[in-house]
Amino acid sequence: MTNTDPILVIGGTGTTGRRVARLLTEQGRAVRVASRTSAHRFDWSDPATWDRALDGVRTAYVVPNDADPRTPDLIDAARDSGLERMVLLSARGNDDPDYYTDRPNLDNGHMQGEKALAGSGLEWTVLRPTWFTQNFTEGFFAPLVAAGDLRLPVHDAACPYVDTDDIAEVAVAALTGDGHLGRVYEMSGPRPLTPGEVAAAFTAAGTPLTHTPISMDEFVAAQVADGIPEEVALIWADVLGPLARGRESHLSTGVEEVLGRPPRSLEDTLSRRG
Ligand SMILES: NC(=O)c1ccc[n+]([C@@H]2O[C@H](COP(=O)([O-])OP(=O)(O)OC[C@H]3O[C@@H](n4cnc5c(N)ncnc54)[C@H](OP(=O)(O)O)[C@@H]3O)[C@@H](O)[C@H]2O)c1
Repeated sequence: MTNTDPILVIGGTGTTGRRVARLLTEQGRAVRVASRTSAHRFDWSDPATWDRALDGVRTAYVVPNDADPRTPDLIDAARDSGLERMVLLSARGNDDPDYYTDRPNLDNGHMQGEKALAGSGLEWTVLRPTWFTQNFTEGFFAPLVAAGDLRLPVHDAACPYVDTDDIAEVAVAALTGDGHLGRVYEMSGPRPLTPGEVAAAFTAAGTPLTHTPISMDEFVAAQVADGIPEEVALIWADVLGPLARGRESHLSTGVEEVLGRPPRSLEDTLSRRG
């Protein structure tokens, strides 16, 4: 790879991809952001848009589409078009058959993508983060923060939420550096936090926040009352299940392993808010 080859960032307008694209640009790399709304249009549901995005690219960061996972097809197309290296975003827990209580977890979209990549012949790195800290500041939980009360069905279950700036730094290291090929990096923040501790950190940082534990049924009903389609609210309830059962409470070392420093804390994330 030379510094003039564009690095493709699929999902480059989203939470991690935006940060990956920014870091690469700051390093003087050529970047091609690809999504439905980017200048370089890429639509997971329209493979006719894939070739143009992949044209002339040898390295790519890929954010999969959970709603309609087609990562294995993209990997085939990318290899055929000359891609050499892919860094794939996945999620922690996917290799754990007991992650969900009601169904096996080894054949979901993330695992299908991981398996296809491992067997592709490409140079590859997989990133498996826990829940993002930025869910609270710019993602799904941000409206609850804005309303001043984390009404979540996770009770006192802790999670070492990971800062997506750390994920992006790890991604860039794997995209541009040596020593990360064939590696699966599990990543977390430095400390498991209960929702009450998250609320206390926001409050200390100047955003008053409480935590009210609610049941899953109450959570779904509240989402629907806020205009979220019921099927979407049920998907969120489903993915919150393992978090609520404490399956995300453990620490992972990927950030420190790759970056040689501890992961950013929630306090650090909040101090950097614009
Ligand atoms: N949130 C968490 O706590 C967490 C934790 C672990 C793993 N993950 C995984 O992280 C991934 C999401 O990553 P993220 O948060 O960086 O992204 P994100 O903020 O959810 O943004 C999604 C990106 O994909 C693009 N996109 C959506 N639908 C598309 C389509 N049909 N075709 C082409 N592009 C499409 C969006 O851009 P356009 O709208 O412009 O198309 C955007 O750039 C998921 O796979 C999730 O499982 C999330």
